[in-house]
Amino acid sequence: MQDFAGKIAFITGGANGAGFGQAQLFGRAGARIVIADIRADALGSALQRLRGEGIEAHGIQLDLTDRAAYAAAADEVEQVFGGPPQLLFNTAGVNTFGPTEASTYEDYDWVMGVNLGGVINGMVTFVPRMIRSGREGHIVSTASVGGFQGSAAAAIYCAAKAGVINLMESYRQSLAPYNIGVSVLCPANINSNIGRSTDTRPERLANSGYVVDDDTIRSLEGIYQHGMDPVELAEHVKRGIEENRLYILPYPEIKAGVEKHFQEILDAWLPMEADPEGAAKRTAALQNWSRERAEMMARKTGANDA
Ligand code: NAI
Repeated sequence: MQDFAGKIAFITGGANGAGFGQAQLFGRAGARIVIADIRADALGSALQRLRGEGIEAHGIQLDLTDRAAYAAAADEVEQVFGGPPQLLFNTAGVNTFGPTEASTYEDYDWVMGVNLGGVINGMVTFVPRMIRSGREGHIVSTASVGGFQGSAAAAIYCAAKAGVINLMESYRQSLAPYNIGVSVLCPANINSNIGRSTDTRPERLANSGYVVDDDTIRSLEGIYQHGMDPVELAEHVKRGIEENRLYILPYPEIKAGVEKHFQEILDAWLPMEADPEGAAKRTAALQNWSRERAEMMARKTGANDA
């Protein structure tokens, strides 16, 4: 996608941080903006700022873990702007830090629910609508560099973000025939409000194994204030869409660590020389199965899903 003028953009977490930066940048490029966020107060001030710059913007208070509410939000977008979004930004996310071994079910349900479940809900809600519209589209989900590697201090968050990266790789393949591009953004540090994530943690999921108090929040804010400016980050996103790139990776300082991590994985692999016959047999079986499955699916559906 090269031209954003008049495009409908739906941005989760659009009231703060990275999502608000996307709303500003794509709004300035002429897109019609919907910001969806759980925080009503932040939505109000974000809308005021966007409209103050002449950006056409609509706000929806949404807890994206609520699937019925998500469907209602999608209906609202169609009523307000006359169609489903052509740009979907799954940007909302939450974080909380603590020792992995102290994690409770509620820590899992909240962090996985928003970071991975929220993206899943965005895809299941909007992808069929975007396909039905028959228009060019692009989806950007925000993961994190944490999604490339586990971490003792943010295990659930990293697992959720790994899921987002992997899921976008799959959707990228699936949606290409519909002229819908898919990208995944992996930030490292954004100047945002994510340090205050626990403000929106639901009461029913309050039981945590981690220590979250004013001191720990202040310490998080101490690092995020040095993060990338959200509009600058959104510029990387815009270029990623224009160039239809799968991975948007704007933090050069992280590359060496990720390289080392993937090299460890490759080094751990059993080399081909260790089992050439077994490898050849399994490869041939997989190729046959893929061909037969494609033929079977073509017979059943008239389409090829393999
Ligand atoms: P932020 O806290 O400034 O913005 C996130 C927005 O998501 C907030 O407005 C919040 O109200 C909203 N939100 C939270 N839970 C929600 C829910 N259940 N339903 C709807 N909206 C909800 O944080 P930031 O940093 O802008 O985060 C954006 C994305 O970037 C997130 O996916 C985050 O995980 C990711 N990220 C952030 C990094 C950072 O350093 N801040 C680093 C790597 C990734």
